[in-house]
Amino acid sequence: MASIGIFDSGVGGLSVWREIAFLLPDVDLIYFADQGYCPYGPRTLPDIRQRVEKVARFLLAQEIELLVVACNTASAAALSHLRGLFDLPIVGMEPALKPAVEKTNSGKVAVMATPATFQGEPFGRLMARFAHGVQVFVQPCPGLVEQVEQGDLDGPVTQRLLHRYLDGLPAQGVDELVLGCTHYPFLRPAIEAVVGAGVQVIDPAPAVARQARRLWERLETKPLTSSVPQRRFYTTGPAERLRQQLWQLLGPKAAHQANVQTASLHE
Ligand code: DGL
Repeated sequence: MASIGIFDSGVGGLSVWREIAFLLPDVDLIYFADQGYCPYGPRTLPDIRQRVEKVARFLLAQEIELLVVACNTASAAALSHLRGLFDLPIVGMEPALKPAVEKTNSGKVAVMATPATFQGEPFGRLMARFAHGVQVFVQPCPGLVEQVEQGDLDGPVTQRLLHRYLDGLPAQGVDELVLGCTHYPFLRPAIEAVVGAGVQVIDPAPAVARQARRLWERLETKPLTSSVPQRRFYTTGPAERLRQQLWQLLGPKAAHQANVQTASLHE
């Protein structure tokens, strides 16, 4: 049965998974959480690229027809590398700078992402393309991915980090805030509480899911889907932990349908 492969360093890509599952409810989905290697953000770009290639090879061995890199960091480090290697359609992520620039009234926008996402060449290209006549505040947010992985969506440590990274933005006139990491949508209520109603938060996950649907519908050998769509999840960490995280982040129904297994990547 043909399927869509979706991956991230951990549970962040579930913010994209849930949008894809909503738009393509009958399609088999295989999610890969590289939790044994999470977080990617503080690692070097060549390290991330090497690791991401292994994850992609694992998913390709499951006979996926479409690959979604549901991770900004992995996309920044390896998207063009993957497209050069593999002959299937690949959807990647990038911080949603374009809509932020289109929407801003104040001319000041901010982007939250991991340090590696900002270091990657794609972010430089994005800035050169879209950041004209606006001021872009670049905010690396080390530590937030770990908080989401621990299930701490609004506890004291997460709150402290969010205040450290975001407190200054409203006073500087920022009115659009881009979530440039797929873990951050799970912090959205806490982020909105910190920045206040004058700052619009932009999550690119729905747009990425629409792009995945477009590419899926365009596949030549329009693959058959199962009558009961498969919801497979692999992790390089403990399966039981991912099961609990699915419960917390996707809710009981999705967690119930999930088939969760531990995977190891070949060295
Ligand atoms: N969800 C990943 C992203 O979108 C997090 C990367 C990490 O593991 O640091 O960037």
